[in-house]
Amino acid sequence: MTQQAEVKQDAPKLKKHTIWQNGHSPEPCAIVLFGATGDLAQRKILPTLAHLIHDHPQPETICIVAFARRPLGDDGWRKMVLESLDKYMPADDKLKAADKQAFAQRLFYCQSDFDDDAGYQRLGQLLDTLDKEQHTGGNRLFYLATPPDTDPEIIAHLGKAGLAKPRAQNGNDKKCWVHIITEKPFGHDLASAQSLNAEIGKVFHEDQIFRIDHYMGKETVQNIIAFRFANSIMEPLWNQKYIDHIQITVAESLGIESRAEYYEASGAIKDIVQNHVMQILSLVTMEPPADFSANDIRDEKVKVLRAISALTPEQVQERTVRGQYTAGEEDGKPVVGYKEEKGVNPKSTTETYVALKLFIENWRWADVPIYIRTGKHLPKRSTEVIIQFKRVPHQLYTTDQIGNMQPNQLVLRIQPDEGITLKIGAKVPGAANDLATIDLDASYRTVFGIELPEAYERLIADCILGDSTLFIRRDEIEESWRIIDSITNTWKQMDPDTVYPYATGTWGPKEADKLIRKDGRRQWVNP
Ligand code: BG6
Repeated sequence: MTQQAEVKQDAPKLKKHTIWQNGHSPEPCAIVLFGATGDLAQRKILPTLAHLIHDHPQPETICIVAFARRPLGDDGWRKMVLESLDKYMPADDKLKAADKQAFAQRLFYCQSDFDDDAGYQRLGQLLDTLDKEQHTGGNRLFYLATPPDTDPEIIAHLGKAGLAKPRAQNGNDKKCWVHIITEKPFGHDLASAQSLNAEIGKVFHEDQIFRIDHYMGKETVQNIIAFRFANSIMEPLWNQKYIDHIQITVAESLGIESRAEYYEASGAIKDIVQNHVMQILSLVTMEPPADFSANDIRDEKVKVLRAISALTPEQVQERTVRGQYTAGEEDGKPVVGYKEEKGVNPKSTTETYVALKLFIENWRWADVPIYIRTGKHLPKRSTEVIIQFKRVPHQLYTTDQIGNMQPNQLVLRIQPDEGITLKIGAKVPGAANDLATIDLDASYRTVFGIELPEAYERLIADCILGDSTLFIRRDEIEESWRIIDSITNTWKQMDPDTVYPYATGTWGPKEADKLIRKDGRRQWVNP
């Protein structure tokens, strides 16, 4: 499955990407989906699995078992999935009827409530049968695509039924593997995340646990590591001596769609900053790891988070801005404001936009502000990191000659139009010594001519291979919540009028512009 892009009519056809790292072939396994009839599984996980299995054929068998309440049986579940594949596979990435049927033959159903001991016994028996009849090899991947409050119960039952322990493989000393994937949100604050970690930790070992943040599956997020550590020219400049500030923008043009219940309890800071932004931030600012092992990379990421102090109430007031969208237009069509969305409290103070400033207190980043903003119903969908370099130490050109030329800027375009732009000063041809900013630009699709893998496909493939590099470790989650809690705890005490309105289709409340402008000549770089 591929990350969809705006494909131009005459764009050359892109080559297929690979998905199994370094040519490793996956071992056979059974994937057990909890929440299998829910929206995430039907819309995202099952189409991704169908493509993963079809586009990257592997010698070994993968079967998918639904563990769900509804009385469907294998046939009903297969019919449901086939309908979802038709509905949710992107128009330019559909499978042929025969390929969909072949996928359906790998689907099995185990009907049970999540709290029913007998259901987990039946699951164990079904998995044993699949090992014998379908050759799934005793390896299991439990995928929790479930509301987070049900996770502890499922995990405890898996433990009780003896399903969490890897067993010996038939005929040799090697162990089978058992992995578990959990989806976000992982807790709703530090205390709940710690308690969830403790519950999982009673049953699964940390290296069996794969906490998903789908941003880590994006090719361009992984490319931050390659850009920084495969090139020698950037690293000497990558510090407080040369960098004025960093901006991370995650802009969305969509509103909350039909997710009012979830979003009311979450808001922009928990929905996007606690996870996706913190992941991007730590990759951009971490030290070089000792090597590329999962734990060495994650050690460095967590060190960065530890170097961000909890914000005091005064700092929260000075360094954060909340906003909420009001009615306006999206793609030329009128849309309602957040308070008028179905399922939202008309007096809601939930933020759909947040801008904030953080500091990383270490030698590399001392006094370099990191400006973060994210929001729903902004003018376009775009995720970018801006590395704003300092001005030259001594300017030889006159103010007239400089004109609008800006100091160097590096733009890491995470999505869409994935790529990198370096903005540099250049002389305008002619007798005058006038300067202008020009772009050195690279687009990953154009340069490589290879389609970008879809984030979920990459992550599920890595989990099957047992590589946890792109998954979030226990301490990363907790450090990130520590920072977010310090902000949300103060927000709870603040006047609700400090959630500023902004019209749909604009770049957020003007208070967010003031937040960055009050630090000198800085301003948001809009994509
Ligand atoms: C999800 C959030 O984690 O990320 C959504 O819950 C958001 O609210 C989505 O829309 C954005 O993901 P992407 O890949 O479209 O940037």
